[in-house]
Amino acid sequence: MPEIVLEARDLNVSYVRRRRRDNRVVKDVSFTIDSGQTLALVGESGSGKTTVARAVVGLVRAEGQLLFGSAGEPLQTRRTRALRRQIPMVFQDPRSSLNPRMLVGDVLNEGWAVHPEVAPAGDRRQALVTLLERVGLTEGLLSSRPAQLSGGQCQRVSIARAIALRPRLLVCDEAVSALDVSVQAQILHLLIDLKAELEIALLFITHDLGVVRQIADSVAVMEDGRIVEQGPTEQVFTAPSHPYSQDLLDAALDLAPADGPGRAGSQELSEQRSAETPRQHRSRRPRFNEE
Ligand SMILES: Nc1ncnc2c1ncn2[C@@H]1O[C@H](COP(=O)(O)OP(=O)(O)OP(=O)(O)O)[C@@H](O)[C@H]1O
Ligand SMILES: [Mg+2]
Repeated sequence: MPEIVLEARDLNVSYVRRRRRDNRVVKDVSFTIDSGQTLALVGESGSGKTTVARAVVGLVRAEGQLLFGSAGEPLQTRRTRALRRQIPMVFQDPRSSLNPRMLVGDVLNEGWAVHPEVAPAGDRRQALVTLLERVGLTEGLLSSRPAQLSGGQCQRVSIARAIALRPRLLVCDEAVSALDVSVQAQILHLLIDLKAELEIALLFITHDLGVVRQIADSVAVMEDGRIVEQGPTEQVFTAPSHPYSQDLLDAALDLAPADGPGRAGSQELSEQRSAETPRQHRSRRPRFNEE
């Protein structure tokens, strides 16, 4: 039996509270994510995907239950709040998610200061260098500020900040959408590698159904705050049961020319990956200080 990392049961979120009106933007949302698995959350703009992500990491209050790990510990209590350390989030806009005044080294150190229980023992600078190398960056960037980095580098720093806390679940909200197509593929490779190396589960929110097919084990489709369909990726792609999922797939096919930019990232990803063994793939991982 796979181990459950997160179970969401009947989540409901309202930003505005008014009597006698249903203002929920997330409605009775339930899903589970198993250890090391990727659940993709898709759906049109405004369907509530980001709000679900924000509820999972504790940035908005949700009614319903969020249960962590196989023991099903509730995340919404004061006592278990520390567990949230294991569920960091990577945001869409890599630049605005980093404090422009902080040096990269301080950004990465910050999490360890707040959660000393996962801070590395011994040489802290060496630990920072190892962390940077893990996301394809080098020591030289430790004393840079976000404004001196490219979008791709910033996103790598955000990912490094997240994995520094030894997460069990990484929440990625359109984490590659704001990047250049070629950089998108690189960041996706990185996430796929890290997921395997560190056995992290992913809650991956994206508009790009090509990417979903590459990265996700299962898919949940949202419409107007509700999950209208969920299941294994291949099943949802080949035999969508809800008319909305069918529409979404049709729209994606209409929008994506065979070799157009919308598909290039995922196509390149699939071609490279199918031609390589995992070991070849890891050893190919380049450094991106010049990205
Ligand atoms: N801070 C907020 N205050 C009030 N309403 C909000 C807030 N954030 C989001 N909403 C509303 O909640 C609904 C869901 O928004 P959300 O951002 O979760 O959608 P989304 O699926 O992530 O959309 P997109 O694909 O465009 O990112 C929308 O109607 C949005 O206008
Ligand atoms: Mg969103």
